Amino acid sequence: MKALILYLSRDGQTRSIASYIASKLQDSLSCDVIDLLQVDTIELDQYQQILIGASVRYGHFHPALEKFAKRYAEQLNRIPSAFFAVNLTARKSEKRSPQTNAYTRKFLLVSPWQPKQCAVFAGALRYPRYRWFDRVMIRFIMKMTGGETDTSREVEYTDWQQVERFTQEFRCIQGEK
Ligand SMILES: Cc1cc2nc3c(=O)[nH]c(=O)nc-3n(C[C@H](O)[C@H](O)[C@H](O)COP(=O)(O)O)c2cc1C
Repeated sequence: MKALILYLSRDGQTRSIASYIASKLQDSLSCDVIDLLQVDTIELDQYQQILIGASVRYGHFHPALEKFAKRYAEQLNRIPSAFFAVNLTARKSEKRSPQTNAYTRKFLLVSPWQPKQCAVFAGALRYPRYRWFDRVMIRFIMKMTGGETDTSREVEYTDWQQVERFTQEFRCIQGEK
């Protein structure tokens, strides 16, 4: 059994989550973990399970996600597949489900790919690593939404137990209808 885990990550958090999931699956599945931006064409039929993870920036997933979902919709809908979204809005537990997380809900509403399993994970806030403009913008958003505003701090909000539970469900996705 072979699984494909594709990720779209700007600052590395989605990549870390993808790698974590792969490491947890490796006893039962062989996993290819690939940056979706490095994919030109790919033979999806060589995989029995597919997982795609993407983060949000300024209200949007990377446009490559939509492009990939359109191009490979037929295979993605046929092969058991799952999606996870990563963003800071999800640091609030009430915004951490596909229905309550606006970015994820909107994506699923228009996507020709309908994953069998979907989750939203809180990402990381890493002020010292951001460019000046991004730091100012993110601090402003955090101030508006009651989040961390100390720009010397790095905060990881990802709930790794939630990721672990998602991984266990993904492991069983084959049997689901
Ligand atoms: C420039 C920038 C813009 C962001 N915009 C949003 C946003 O619009 N909504 C949100 O919930 N999170 C936003 N985030 C938070 C990211 O989704 C979060 O940091 C996530 O962990 C990034 O994952 P990545 O490192 O895999 O790209 C933003 C982060 C940065 C640095």
